Amino acid sequence: MKEKLEQLSAEVERALATAEDEDRIVKVRTQFLGRKGKLALFIKQLGTLPEKERPIVGQLINQTKNSIEQQIDQKLKTISEKKKKEILQKETLDITLPGRRFSPGKKHPITQVASEIITIFTAMGFQIAEGPEVELDFYNFEALNIPRDHPARDMHDTFYITEEVLLRTHTSPVQIRTMEKLKPPVSIISPGKAYRRDSDVSHTPMFHQIEGFMVGEAISFSHLKGVLTVFAHQMFGENSAVRFRPSFFPFTEPSAEVDIKCVICKGEGCRVCSGSGWLEILGSGMVHPAVFKMVGYDPQKVSGFAFGMGIERIAMLKYGIDDIRLFFENDVRFLQQF
Ligand code: DAH
Repeated sequence: MKEKLEQLSAEVERALATAEDEDRIVKVRTQFLGRKGKLALFIKQLGTLPEKERPIVGQLINQTKNSIEQQIDQKLKTISEKKKKEILQKETLDITLPGRRFSPGKKHPITQVASEIITIFTAMGFQIAEGPEVELDFYNFEALNIPRDHPARDMHDTFYITEEVLLRTHTSPVQIRTMEKLKPPVSIISPGKAYRRDSDVSHTPMFHQIEGFMVGEAISFSHLKGVLTVFAHQMFGENSAVRFRPSFFPFTEPSAEVDIKCVICKGEGCRVCSGSGWLEILGSGMVHPAVFKMVGYDPQKVSGFAFGMGIERIAMLKYGIDDIRLFFENDVRFLQQF
């Protein structure tokens, strides 16, 4: 009996030697230790033995059972450790691999240029005012000396909401709204969105403008020239040449457009400046007496100048961008350059 039990132990050892996964080992366990397993046969035989031998053989069977269990547990442990090692090896972490770069957001170039323009004017004492984008015909046109039948309306490609309500085509209506509210002297700049039914390389249906004006006693064209020259120099460099060219706007008289020497050809004449050597940066003029009357200012007592510029246009000239639509496509390769 003892020998047979030892043989059984050896048999288990052999069976385990070839068992390479948990399933096989579980099978070995049932084969030897299960209710109908090989060890159970020995237990059954116990009853046939003489009473005196039973405790001794019983003990032997127990010992064998324990040793088989130990062998099986040992084998299971070996296999699970091997598996763990394999997994660890497969999943090695390459700590030399560079991490993913984190790119923080930043201000849109239009916002950046707008802030720059605002800083220049607020440093000269201008205050900021804002007005609605959905505007009345009265403020957008009528009060700016552009009556219903005025040909200047054609240039504005207006989005009408009703006959009297529209999307403002420029930021000039803020002039009227501000003068209605404040007594002179006033000097205001007003950044914001404007809308026109127009779309090509230099026009988008929505764009940004900054309007400005200074009104008080004895404000003259010299003030206009001084303030706008300072602006052009701070925006485009102290050495950029500036020129004031006669022009027309219904709400100013006289009117002037301000040009800087072409930033591309430096005045030689190129495709960008249409051969003229100059680039227009803004419109301006002395506020028309009719506009003062509209807001209840006395044109005999006060005078002033006004100006308006497109922020996209200033940004395009400053950075040499040839398509305004780039500002609105939000391609990060474009935006990251600012
Ligand atoms: N409102 C004009 C435009 O959108 C720009 C402008 C020109 C504004 C002359 C002014 C000005 O205040 O005096 O084209």
